[in-house]
Amino acid sequence: MSESIHVPLESLIATAASGISSLPAGAPDSTRSFDATSIATVTPGAGKSFYIETFGCQMNVHDSEKVVGVLEGRGYQQVEKLVDADLIFYNTCSIREKAAQKVFSRLGEFRGTAGESKIIGVLGCLAQQEGEDIFERAPWVSLVCGSASYRKLPEFLAQLEAGGRRIMGLDLDTEETFETDLTRRDNPFRAYLTIIEGCDYACSYCVVPHTRGPERSRRSEAVLAEVRRLVDLGYSEIQLLGQTVNSYRDSGPRKLNFVDLLREVAAVNGVRRVRFTTSHPNDFTREIVQAIDETPALCDHIHLPVQSGSTPILKAMLRTYTRDEYLEKIDWIRAARRPISVTSDVIIGFPGETESNFEATLSLLDRVHYDGVYAFNYSPRPNTTARSMPDAIPETEKSRRLAVLNEYQRKIQSATNEKLIGSTFEVFADSRYAARNQWGGRTTCNRVVNFTSPRENLLGQYLQVKVTRSGPGSLSGEHLV
Ligand code: SAH
Ligand code: SF4
Ligand code: F3S
Repeated sequence: MSESIHVPLESLIATAASGISSLPAGAPDSTRSFDATSIATVTPGAGKSFYIETFGCQMNVHDSEKVVGVLEGRGYQQVEKLVDADLIFYNTCSIREKAAQKVFSRLGEFRGTAGESKIIGVLGCLAQQEGEDIFERAPWVSLVCGSASYRKLPEFLAQLEAGGRRIMGLDLDTEETFETDLTRRDNPFRAYLTIIEGCDYACSYCVVPHTRGPERSRRSEAVLAEVRRLVDLGYSEIQLLGQTVNSYRDSGPRKLNFVDLLREVAAVNGVRRVRFTTSHPNDFTREIVQAIDETPALCDHIHLPVQSGSTPILKAMLRTYTRDEYLEKIDWIRAARRPISVTSDVIIGFPGETESNFEATLSLLDRVHYDGVYAFNYSPRPNTTARSMPDAIPETEKSRRLAVLNEYQRKIQSATNEKLIGSTFEVFADSRYAARNQWGGRTTCNRVVNFTSPRENLLGQYLQVKVTRSGPGSLSGEHLV
C-alpha cells in the first residue's frame, strides 16, 4: 500500500506496559498513574485550536480519528492550517527508516512555523518506539504519546498548560481505549473499526510488535454495537482493522472466531460492504473463503501479504509459512465461486536474498496474478533481529530489483484489467472529479473505477458501471442508468 495510508522497542514494551516513564531531568513527574475517569475533571479546551498530521497505515489514520474525536469532545477545534493552530500533533509511523527520518525533518518544519509558543506533540508508532529520545532530538516537542493513550490527551494538555514542560504517555490500550463513541471519522463513506490491536508474530524485520505491543482482541459485543451505531450514522461500508485481523479471538463471553464475527458484522441491517485488513497467511482459513462465497456483503477482496516468494527467505523472515503453504491458500481463494481479488505486500532485498530468491518472488507473482502488490525495499529497523543479519543487499541492488518487480507486476495487472472491459460492476461512488466531469468509486473487489454519468449527486450511492477502458491501476467506465 502507499506510504501515506499503509501502514504499522527494546525495553520500551516494559515502559509502555507500565505507563511509567523516566523523564528527562527537570521534567515534572507527570506521567504517573493517570486514571481515565479523571478526564472529566480537567480543563476543557474551549477556544483552543489544534492541527493534526498523520503518516502510516490505516490503523494510524483511524487512531487520528480517535484523537480528533477526543479533543473535539473536550472543546478543542480542529483547523486545516498549521499556522492557525495552538496545538500541533504529528501521528507517526516507524515501519521503515525513511518514515522515521521524515518525522524528524517534519518536526523541524513544525518548529519553524510554530515558534516557541505552541505545544507540539508526537503521537503514534515512532513516539512509542523512541519515547524520551524524541525530546532529546527535538527539544521543542513537549508531548510524546503512544497511539493507545489518546484518551488521556486532554489531561496531558491541561498539565502542559498548567506549566508542565514535557509529558510522556506510553500506556498500551485496553478494551476501553479500543474505540470511543467520540471518534470523528474523516471518511464519510468507509468506516474504519479496530477489532484487534498489536501483533503476536515476530517477523524478523518488523517494528510493529514493539510499537503496538502484544495482540489484544476487542469484545465481539462491543464491535457489533459499534457497527450498529455506524449504520445509524449512515455508513454502509465497514472496514475491520488489525495488523493480523484474521487472528481475531473474541475477548468477550461469546468467544466468536474471526469468521463468526465477519458473518455477524455482515448480517447487521444496513451493512452493504465489509472489508478487513490485514490478513496473515498463517491464520487464513478455508472458512474465510466460504464465508465470502456465501455472504454478498463480505467484499471479495483479500489483502494477503506474502513478503517473499522464496521459502528460505520466508524462514529467515520468521513468517511461519512456506511458499507452497501460501500458494495452497491462494488455491482456496481461486476455487471460490466469487472472483475474489487478492493483493499483497512484498519486501525486496531482505538480508541474504539472492538473485534466485528474488526470481522465486517474480515467479510467485506469475503464479498468483495479484490484483495489486505493494513492494518495499527492505529497511533495517531498531530492535528487530533482521537488523544484525549478515549479507545486507546494497541499496542500488534493492532498487533495481524493486523496479524490475514493479514493472513485472504492472504488466500482470494491465492484462488482468484489460479482460474486464465490457463487464459491469457495482461501484460505490466516493469521489467527484469536476474538472474532468467524472465520478470515482470502488467495486466490491476494491478496484478503482472512474466513470461518467448523466446523473448528478452520486456520492454515497451504489451504481452499476460498465467498464469501457482499463489501465494497470484502475478502470474507466459509464454509469448504466
Ligand atoms: N501485519 C501486516 C503488515 C504490516 S506492516 C502483515 O503481517 O502482513 C506493512 C508492510 O510493510 C509489510 O507487509 C511489509 O511488506 C512492510 N514492511 C514491514 N517492515 C518492513 C521493513 N523493515 N522494511 C521494509 N518493509 C517493511
Ligand atoms: Fe509485523 Fe509480522 Fe506482525 Fe505483520 S505479522 S505486524 S509483519 S510482526
Ligand atoms: Fe502502522 Fe507504521 Fe505503526 S505501518 S502500525 S503506523 S509503524
